[in-house]
Amino acid sequence: RTVYVNGSYLPEHEATVSIFDRGFLFADGVYEVTSVLGGKLIDFAGHAARLQRSLDELEMANPTTEEDLLEIHRELVRLNEIDEGLIYLQVTRGAADRDFAYPEDATPTLVLFTQAKSGLADNPMAKTGMKIISIEDQRWGRRDIKTVQLLYPSMGKMAAKAAGAHDAWMVEDGVVTEGTSNNAYIVKGNTIITRHLGHEILSGITRTAVLRMAQEAQMKVEERPFTMEEAKQADEAFVTSATTFVMPVVEIDGAAIGTGQPGDVVARLREIYIDEMR
Ligand code: PDD
Repeated sequence: RTVYVNGSYLPEHEATVSIFDRGFLFADGVYEVTSVLGGKLIDFAGHAARLQRSLDELEMANPTTEEDLLEIHRELVRLNEIDEGLIYLQVTRGAADRDFAYPEDATPTLVLFTQAKSGLADNPMAKTGMKIISIEDQRWGRRDIKTVQLLYPSMGKMAAKAAGAHDAWMVEDGVVTEGTSNNAYIVKGNTIITRHLGHEILSGITRTAVLRMAQEAQMKVEERPFTMEEAKQADEAFVTSATTFVMPVVEIDGAAIGTGQPGDVVARLREIYIDEMR
């Protein structure tokens, strides 16, 4: 694999980052994951805009411009011959002697790599649906910033795995915030319900696109909190992310959602999303 580090395209075993990098020592970094379908980037502009917002919120310098970033993404797709897969991007505040305060003169670190993944569009999980469990949301309070502090979401995925499920939805103050690495939705009749934006959740790039497409398809959208009890009574449920697109949820904490099979509304949304993005 050819990866990108601070201006250079290198074989992955030649790419290095300092042990003093603040991303490594303090999780002082932000990231983006952009999907590739048919060699084409999905919603690059949305990811670039959210990256800039994450950097601004943390007063971190942007090591590049949107134009250069697009060029790097395209070059990595080309060099690694990615037809279907993901591009991971990470910016950290850079390397400096270990100190909690931000360094004044560190140069930000920029790293990108690709992951080839067949079956993003034809994911067999879309036919069977995901089982999820609920866990308490114990992350920090600025989940709108896409930082690399992902230990709690990792713990959530492990808890789900141990329970024989695929993922976890997180609950705070009695309502669902989001999935460990995706936004969470329920469907009642023709209405899609998902938590409103705020510091409590990440503003998903897929979420923005899917809510627009739902409205264009004459579905109703309610952006409000919902409880696990409401979710268990829903007709359908699903998650969205760059890695799953629109993915049905068929079981929550052991209770079947609707018929226990992926429903029509979610199947339709998935199809609309993939058709438009492809
Ligand atoms: N995760 N919420 C959280 C907590 C996420 O980590 C993600 C994305 C999303 C969905 O955002 P988007 O639609 O822009 O992918 C929501 C990425 C895919 C990851 O960590 O791998």
